[in-house]
Amino acid sequence: MRTYLFWLSLISTLACQTAKQEDSTSEKKEMTFTDPHTYARPDESVVTHLDWKAEVDFGSKTITAQATLTLKNSSNAQKLRLDTKALNITDVLVDGDSATYTLGGPDEHMGSALDVTIVPNAKKVDVYYTTSPGAEALQWLAPQQTADKQHPFLFTQSQAILARSWVPIQDSPGVRFTYNAEVKVPKGLLALMSAENPMEVSEDGIYRFQMAQPVPAYLLALAVGDLKFQSLGTRSGVYAEPSVIEKATSEFEDLESMISAAEELYGPYQWDRYDLLVLPPSFPFGGMENPRLTFATPTILAGDKSLVSLVAHELAHSWSGNLVTNATWDDFWLNEGFTVYFEQRIMERLYGREYSEMLASLAAQDLLEEIESMTKRGNGNDTKLKLDLAGRNPDDGVTTIAYDKGYLLLRTLEETLGREKFDAFLKSYFEKNAFSVMTTEEFIRQFEQFTADGESQPDLKAWIYQPGLPANVRLPTSGKFMTVDQELEKYRQGSTAAQLNTGDWTSHEWLHFVRSVPEDITSGQLSELDNTFGFTTSGNSEVLTAWLVQAIRHNYTPAFDRLERFLISTGRRKFLSPIYKELLNMDGGREMALRIYEKARPNYHFVATNTLDEMLGIELNN
Ligand code: BES
Ligand code: ZN
Repeated sequence: MRTYLFWLSLISTLACQTAKQEDSTSEKKEMTFTDPHTYARPDESVVTHLDWKAEVDFGSKTITAQATLTLKNSSNAQKLRLDTKALNITDVLVDGDSATYTLGGPDEHMGSALDVTIVPNAKKVDVYYTTSPGAEALQWLAPQQTADKQHPFLFTQSQAILARSWVPIQDSPGVRFTYNAEVKVPKGLLALMSAENPMEVSEDGIYRFQMAQPVPAYLLALAVGDLKFQSLGTRSGVYAEPSVIEKATSEFEDLESMISAAEELYGPYQWDRYDLLVLPPSFPFGGMENPRLTFATPTILAGDKSLVSLVAHELAHSWSGNLVTNATWDDFWLNEGFTVYFEQRIMERLYGREYSEMLASLAAQDLLEEIESMTKRGNGNDTKLKLDLAGRNPDDGVTTIAYDKGYLLLRTLEETLGREKFDAFLKSYFEKNAFSVMTTEEFIRQFEQFTADGESQPDLKAWIYQPGLPANVRLPTSGKFMTVDQELEKYRQGSTAAQLNTGDWTSHEWLHFVRSVPEDITSGQLSELDNTFGFTTSGNSEVLTAWLVQAIRHNYTPAFDRLERFLISTGRRKFLSPIYKELLNMDGGREMALRIYEKARPNYHFVATNTLDEMLGIELNN
């Protein structure tokens, strides 16, 4: 566990210098924080650049690489300490000469510390290594597991602390470095990273990447597969497997306007290009904000743009998260809460307030449910915005608290200050803190400094350091959902499905409808709804998930076939968790869950199996 002392204005990056010039009045901000999830000691000796030369081998499911780390040794340290996890290290050099190094014993979450003996003026450290086939960040897919079923596929997922399973690095969000890479892959496949990317397959299977903006390790990313590129505008485009590219292109046609909307809100996009990569279905998240190249689930391709708020979300991370980065995973809400708020603002600009208030209202529903269930399970402490994840898997902090309670706090600040003033705060916050870290405490300080004395303010400290929600919280309500509620009332009073007025409903209204069907609904009634509205065959995976949960709860067996197929074909944890959880509550559901899980598990990413193994109470190795 390390405590660092950082002076924001000392972090020497191009952008930071710019930020300093533009913010000439800003004093030096002294920030102390402890990242409990790294072995690294960046206050002693810090990595500022990575050169990565790698070869990807699908046969052995390994990457063999040379990582050359450029150091800044500010305290004449005798040691460089890196994070690694299950890496097979074959050699370490310091400035070209063989070096002494030790690898610490592995910790379940943190992996092993790699200590390299250095001299005070050491400039470069080379680590030669091979990843292990079970590397937690890497998912190796057989052709059968891709959309086109012709070629294998590899993708990484580094957040929160999995980068160390494929690169020996200071794996802490507080350490930023630039990188260059040269990656060799099987001929015919395209390689992409969170960097400047190729648009075409190379003859020799070798790709060179540059990432000129400094990023923390959790934003390192690589994908290799049979991928095509389609431009969407001057600075954006989409990569996907050949059979998916067309659908992706039309789903994301609003991308350029989204980028402009985001810039109008909170300042220039600082990463040059913004491209999307649609992954095979086993990708465990909806999206991952890898800089310049958001990774996205194919479940986003609903066919009617109804899930593009996910792109707004990942795009917003180009400011909240990638530019101003949570100092530790205990401050995760600074990444996600800000991003949900920003996402909603983008959606409001593009599709209007009524539309974005539906999203806000769904988020509030999710939040209330999660607070209740966490409190019941005795996890009340995790309903605080500022988390305490020391000694735990930072993944434990990935709940709706960071996202939706964080969002509600920012929404409350907006309501208190007025939109104009709050926007001015956010804009200056992103500008002033660009390419650096933020602690919860520093955020509070900056916010309090910005707002005038005596102004009425929400109790920031209660929001942040107390569990649950303050008693006076104002929850969003959606006018559109009130209309849905009226139809639900008619239904409760005996109207048939066909008599309901559902003409112009979007998938969000449908989602609200499905979530709110009467608790005592029978399977016969579900059947009538299904025959009228076709929920079991919905192409919108949010609606489908909510529907399958109801089907399990009320024993509507005609949906079980689809349920099984969905669980086998989708790897997105957000959908898997509620469905498996509901199955565990059903009579005979545990057996059904385990039977399906046995078939589906090989298709899931570590991030998902890690959660589900625990939920289903099974212990497996790999
Ligand atoms: N950065 C997150 C995904 C993440 C969080 C990965 C923590 C690993 C650890 C990403 O931006 C995200 O929030 N994705 C959401 C989408 C969203 C629209 C809320 C998801 O995957 O569901
Ligand atoms: Zn996010």
